[in-house]
Amino acid sequence: MLPENWEAFADVLARRHCKRSFVDMLVPVDVIERVLVAAAGAPSSRNSQPWRVSVVTGGVKQALADALCAEFDRGVPPHPGYANRLPVTDDVTERRARDAAQGVLAAKGIHRFDEPARRAHLRDNLAFYGAPVEMVFHLPGASPPGVFLETGLFLQNVMLGLVACGLGSCPQFSVAGYPDVISSVLGLADDRVVVCGLAVGYPDESAEVNRFHPARAEIDEYVRWHGAG
Ligand SMILES: Cc1cc2nc3c(=O)[nH]c(=O)nc-3n(C[C@H](O)[C@H](O)[C@H](O)COP(=O)(O)O)c2cc1C
Repeated sequence: MLPENWEAFADVLARRHCKRSFVDMLVPVDVIERVLVAAAGAPSSRNSQPWRVSVVTGGVKQALADALCAEFDRGVPPHPGYANRLPVTDDVTERRARDAAQGVLAAKGIHRFDEPARRAHLRDNLAFYGAPVEMVFHLPGASPPGVFLETGLFLQNVMLGLVACGLGSCPQFSVAGYPDVISSVLGLADDRVVVCGLAVGYPDESAEVNRFHPARAEIDEYVRWHGAG
């Protein structure tokens, strides 16, 4: 027999997948606030609570999207303030990355060799997939890995809270590729490192791209049991 609340918990977890298309509906500020307050219950070493998030909407969100897209259109290569992958990865990791990327493109009707359409998809990232809210997570520039870990716990809480409120989201490392643009538009101090963006809104459930769920590994691939029993 499953414990009480398990189904509700598992349902929220299962419904948290990336949403990359949103309906034209504003998100009430009090809903966002409720989610962020609950998310800040995340644990952190020495209760340091290092996460900071800028919630960007309306005209500022549009100005940010315009500035990011202009940089992209000028051909400026992304220059994130930290690395998000190992310099050398294995075949399994590469296959997963390829399947995930191609799945999104296919769901948007983009052929994998259609370079202009692929580029338009990348650009779409920088316009936050049309979401009415963009959150930007940032930290002190010299943050060690543990601080990123804690911010990830907060970020996951935010995404789950959004699901529980009927909202969808997509975390975006792509947005962190232009930290100088973000700092300039949002007035962040120069020594901040942008961790990622998070596109937030009410998902368009009729959009094929929102129904794409990349496969997960079997439990034996990521768990090793130690001890008897
Ligand atoms: C830190 C982080 C950064 C990500 N950056 C992007 C991004 O820039 N653009 C995008 O479309 N998806 C991005 N993703 C989404 C991943 O591709 C996605 O989580 C993964 O393929 C699993 O799919 P699912 O979240 O729908 O289950 C990011 C996810 C994380 C956790």
